[in-house]
Amino acid sequence: MRNKLYFGGATLGALAVAAVAFSRQTGAQQAAPPPPVATLDTSSLKGPTQPILFRHDIHSGQLKMQCQYCHYSVQVSSEPGIPSMQTCMGCHTVVKGSTDEHRVEIKKLADAWAAKKPIEWVRIHAVARHVRFPHSLHIKALGSNGCATCHGNVARMPQVFQVNNVNNMGWCVSCHIERQVTRDCTACHY
Ligand code: HEC
Ligand code: HEC
Ligand code: HEC
Ligand code: HEC
Ligand code: HEC
Repeated sequence: MRNKLYFGGATLGALAVAAVAFSRQTGAQQAAPPPPVATLDTSSLKGPTQPILFRHDIHSGQLKMQCQYCHYSVQVSSEPGIPSMQTCMGCHTVVKGSTDEHRVEIKKLADAWAAKKPIEWVRIHAVARHVRFPHSLHIKALGSNGCATCHGNVARMPQVFQVNNVNNMGWCVSCHIERQVTRDCTACHY
């Protein structure tokens, strides 16, 4: 039934498969923008599939949680950090989900918590080890809502994907030129 949203009630998994094949071939956007709180066919979403479908569009979009609530080290360290399960359980010992689909995903979280097994989120942005990228400096310069400058509108994403290729030196350098920041090799390279 997960495909219902996109395919007007068609029950065929084949449609979803076709849609994925289509988007892989063309890199096309999804056919329809995701509706507010509803189940999504994760196979049609951009970005790597995560062990739990954690939706930024719900937490940041609808519930209006600040990015820093979870990525709290972002202003003080070079790594913004992925929140611990404890941060999640502050709400989810109580919030069990209002739909079957939400309950399924939230139960995965609760089970991992009970088993003391950290969730192995798939990392999306990572620069090579010879590159230095100080997050906190950038946030200070671009403002605390500057996340979107580099990551796009995460608050609208059901699943996070990369908007800018962070493994492309040209992307870094062109902003540094624009903003008259250093282009010294040794500023960015170890
Ligand atoms: C309720 C907690 C929470 C809030 C609020 C939140 N995030 Fe996240 N964020 C996560 C978790 C958990 C992950 C890892 C799973 C994933 O990628 O979806 C993540 C992943 C990410 C990633 C991808 C990290 C990587 O692997 O490269 C980015 C970028 C990101 N968040 C940006 C934001 C921005 C920008 C905001 C505010 C608009 C925000 N987040 C709000 C919990 C949160
Ligand atoms: C401030 C409270 C709060 C925090 C913190 C929080 N959530 Fe949620 N979460 C909610 C609410 C409210 C809903 C919507 C529940 C519903 O109506 O079904 C929700 C929905 C969900 C859902 C179902 C929808 C979806 O995203 O697929 C999952 C899974 C989930 N949260 C995981 C997490 C994880 C993982 C974390 C920690 C990184 C987290 N939550 C942190 C309040 C919170
Ligand atoms: C100037 C561009 C830029 C800005 C602004 C920016 N980021 Fe990033 N972000 C990156 C790059 C580049 C990486 C990969 C860094 C690395 O591999 O060390 C990254 C990685 C991340 C990660 C994954 C790190 C991890 O430990 O898994 C998260 C989460 C994240 N950013 C969240 C945010 C949030 C939240 C904001 C706003 C407060 C923000 N970013 C602002 C460029 C940016
Ligand atoms: C959207 C614009 C933008 C992008 C994209 C960007 N930067 Fe920057 N960067 C800045 C600004 C602005 C500063 C100056 C911060 C300050 O000193 O106040 C800065 C500063 C830095 C510094 C500190 C320089 C010093 O003076 O020591 C490093 C290192 C750096 N950036 C690396 C990177 C890397 C690596 C990337 C790409 C992965 C990147 N930046 C992408 C805007 C950007
Ligand atoms: C603003 C930051 C920045 C500056 C300045 C910069 N680089 Fe880079 N460089 C990067 C990033 C980011 C990558 C991509 C790393 C990755 O693959 O994740 C990269 C990649 C490279 C690579 C390719 C290595 C590989 O992984 O294949 C070389 C070589 C390189 N840089 C040399 C230089 C030299 C020489 C200079 C000075 C003229 C310079 N860089 C200045 C950020 C920078």
